[in-house]
Parts: sequence; structure tokens; C-alpha cells
Amino acid sequence: MSAGRQRTASPPIAGSATSDFVVVANRLPVHPAEPPSRAWEPSPGGLVPALSGVLAGRDGVWVGWSGEIGPRDAPGTHEGMRLRSVHLTQRDYDEFYLGFSNATLWPLYHDAVRTPTFHRDWFHAYRDVNRRYAESAAQVASFGGTVWVHDYQLQMVPRLLRELRPDLKIGFFLHIPFPPRELFLQLPWRHAILDGLLGADLVGFQVPGAAANFSRLARRLSGAKGTTSSIEYDGRTINVGAFPISIDSARFVERAQDPEVRARARQIRADLGDPEVVLLGVDRLDYTKGIDNRIRAVAELFADGTLHPSKHVVVQVAVPSREEDDHYVSERRHLEQIVSEVNGDHALVGRPAVHYLHQSLLMDELVAMYLAADVMVVTPFRDGMNLIAKEYVACRTDLSGALVLSEFAGAAAELKGAFFVNPHDLEGMKEAIVRAMTVAPREGRARMLRMRRTVLRHDVHAWASSFLGALARSTGRPRAIHAVQPSAGATANG
Ligand code: F6P
Repeated sequence: MSAGRQRTASPPIAGSATSDFVVVANRLPVHPAEPPSRAWEPSPGGLVPALSGVLAGRDGVWVGWSGEIGPRDAPGTHEGMRLRSVHLTQRDYDEFYLGFSNATLWPLYHDAVRTPTFHRDWFHAYRDVNRRYAESAAQVASFGGTVWVHDYQLQMVPRLLRELRPDLKIGFFLHIPFPPRELFLQLPWRHAILDGLLGADLVGFQVPGAAANFSRLARRLSGAKGTTSSIEYDGRTINVGAFPISIDSARFVERAQDPEVRARARQIRADLGDPEVVLLGVDRLDYTKGIDNRIRAVAELFADGTLHPSKHVVVQVAVPSREEDDHYVSERRHLEQIVSEVNGDHALVGRPAVHYLHQSLLMDELVAMYLAADVMVVTPFRDGMNLIAKEYVACRTDLSGALVLSEFAGAAAELKGAFFVNPHDLEGMKEAIVRAMTVAPREGRARMLRMRRTVLRHDVHAWASSFLGALARSTGRPRAIHAVQPSAGATANG
């Protein structure tokens, strides 16, 4: 597959415009404010605080798309980071972003919970846009520098970048699940995607199972040799590992202790009618999140009298997402139908059973919601990590509250104090919700303490340093050289 590969070196642009540390992600850390404003706003999410420290400290560059279609550049700097815009046309947006990234890869990598769509044109757009990201990175990375590529939208970048700049150290981290071999093999462009990833020196995943899926696939499909943690391919060693992402825990703790945020949490409970129990779900409105089954489970609990709207309230925040995609449009209709049925059947005047907000929340409002909720219900059918679960835990500084968590979220491997559910099993989900609502205070505190220890110790900064430390240790050299300088991932059969 790799024979005869063209290695056209593309020298970095001269002078101070280059950096020895470059992040490449689909989106930049800023996005345009709502028109008619021409201003830029910081993008939400945990990646920005995690990487801004590393980038600012190393005068790094972030390569990505502003979220706006057309040729406008985002500002050249943001909070000490230098930004380099990749421009997307309407066609790129339709075929690369909505198409191949979100209608082919996204469902395929999430257990094919919706049928993935395969279109050759979409793949060609994906490859072309990946090439543009790689070219941008190649231009701003200084000689021998480090480039960290992120997520499923950019899986071909490592190989394309290595062809342009063989001097670079390249890391790749996948934020979403990596599917079992049987599913990945459906992809008509499976060789190209796999070869793209194998261009990196280190490929990181959220959980060990995903890393194992990848290594097995590489051995089966590309003839690579090696183990789960170290693959020999194309005369190079590629290290593979699990690096579970986390949140900026200290920031959530700080906001959760803020008197105004705490007052807002009390106000939310009062506005909800001071119920005995508030159950909360917060998700991007995505068909992978299992919101429908969660609402069905609580609907049955209202129907059998376990929950009563005078005492129990469900709040579901569904953050708008990918609204031009048909699957997302129909998921929204489907959810709104279910919510309105539950309320039609069970609400009292002035006391809805389910409060449904199709909105994004600012951080303080989100933290106030977490503080107002007795039980957080996180039930994705499949999720790379699920940071909402970690955010809730970080905010429960007094050890109150309980977490119901899908066993199919990456976070399940770490948050052992949760009440685990199979989101396909309505009976099991109902039981877990009731157990979480009625847990004895002592047991509840012990569970929360256990989870908080994990989230406070392993925050997003620890995640970034563990990945970058492993990348720095990756030599990329084949095992014969490892025999002289042994490394933890090296095996004896080379
Ligand atoms: O979880 C994967 C991810 O791409 C995140 O990085 C991002 O915050 C989220 O999905 C939303 O994605 P989009 O960029 O499509 O709005």
C-alpha cells in the first residue's frame, strides 16, 4: 500500500510564523458570533482550555476551521494561541463535514446506530479537505516540530502530513469510539483511512478497547506486525494507546462554589416547584445519546406511579447540533413527540413531567443545573467518553447527587461509583434510576467521593500531558533500533 509513495517535502514557511507545536482540529477555538455581529466568540468545550496552556506556553499554532463557510480568516491570535484558518466552501461543508464526517464515519463509529451512508464524492471531498489541513500544518510547523491531529474528521492528515514533512513528530487522538473490525470493514475506503492513521507516530484512543480494535484491524488489513501498543508498518513503529480525555475539573469546582451560581441553582429548583427529586439529562441533540430511551424509561415510571409530577421533575437539555442533517432533524422531531406525549399523559397544570430545553447553556447556567439536579442521567448508546458525566461529578463538591451512566460511554471505565445501565434495556434503566434516587446518603456519598477523586486527579491537563509525553517518547524508529534503546511498547519478535 505504501510502496512508491511520493514524498514531496514541503518546507515550512520561514521566520517566526512557524512553531514547534501545532494542533490540528476540525474547528478552531473561536467561532463567529450570531450575525449581524462580525465578532468572534470562544468555542465551548474542554479541548480549548486543555490545549491553550500548552499552545500558549510553546507559542503554538492551532490549525482549524472557523465554522463559517467562505474565505474569511478567524483572528490571528486567541488567548495567547496563534490561529491558522482552513477555509471550507459550501461544497466542502456538505460533502466533507455533513457528508463523510457526520453521515458516514459518525454513525459507523458509533455501532452503526444509524445506517452509515457511503458516497464516493463525499470520500473525495474528505481526502481533499484533509490534504488542505495537512498542507496548512506543514507550512506552520517548524523543522522537527510536533503536530497533534484531532478526531475523526481528520484521519487522513497524519499520512498526508508525513508525506509533506517527514521530519515532524505526529500524534493523532480520536475523540469518538473506534469500531470493532467487523464494522470498520464495511467502509469502502478502509485502506485509505487506516493508512492515514498509520502515518502518525502515536495513535491515541479514549479506552483500551478502542486501541485494541485499531491494532487488530491494522494487523488484519495492512499486514502490520506488532502488539496492541506497538505496530510495525512501512518501516516505522507506531505506538498505540488509551488516553481517556477529561475536563478542566478545577474550573468546574470553582464555578460550582461561586455564590451566584449556587443561588441560581436554588432558583432553578424553586422555579421547578421545589420538587423532592430533580432528574437531569444534558446532551447534544444526537441520536447516539439515547435521549429517547431515557425519556421512555421515565415515562413508564410516571405511568406506574413511581414518579409523580408533584414530587419528581425531569429536565432534559438538548443542545442543537448538526441541524442540516436529516438524521438529526428526524431525531429532534422524534424526541419532541415523546416529550409532548409524556407531558400530555402525566403533567399537572403548572407542573410538567419533563422540562425540555432545546438550547445551549452558558457555563454558569450549566453548572447551576448540575447543582440543582439530584440525579444526572447519561445514557448514550455509544459514546467516546461523555464529559457531561465528568462535569456533573466535578460540580458535586458536597458529595451529594448520583450518576446514572451508560455502560457504553467511555466514562464508564473510570466513574465506578455510577449506577450503570444498558440504555437498550428499559427495565434495567428504570431500576437504576430508582436506585439512584433512593440511594442511602452514606452509600451515595461514598460513590460520589470515589468518582470525584478520579475526575479531580485525572483532569484535562493530565490528559494532554500524558498524550504529549507518550508522543515525545515515540521514536517512530523500527524495532531493530528499539532493541538498542528498549521502550515499554516494544516487543521481542522483530
Ligand atoms: O465528540 C466529537 C465532536 O466532534 C466534538 O469534538 C465536538 O464538540 C462535537 O462532536 C460537536 O461536533 P461538531 O463540530 O460537528 O459540531
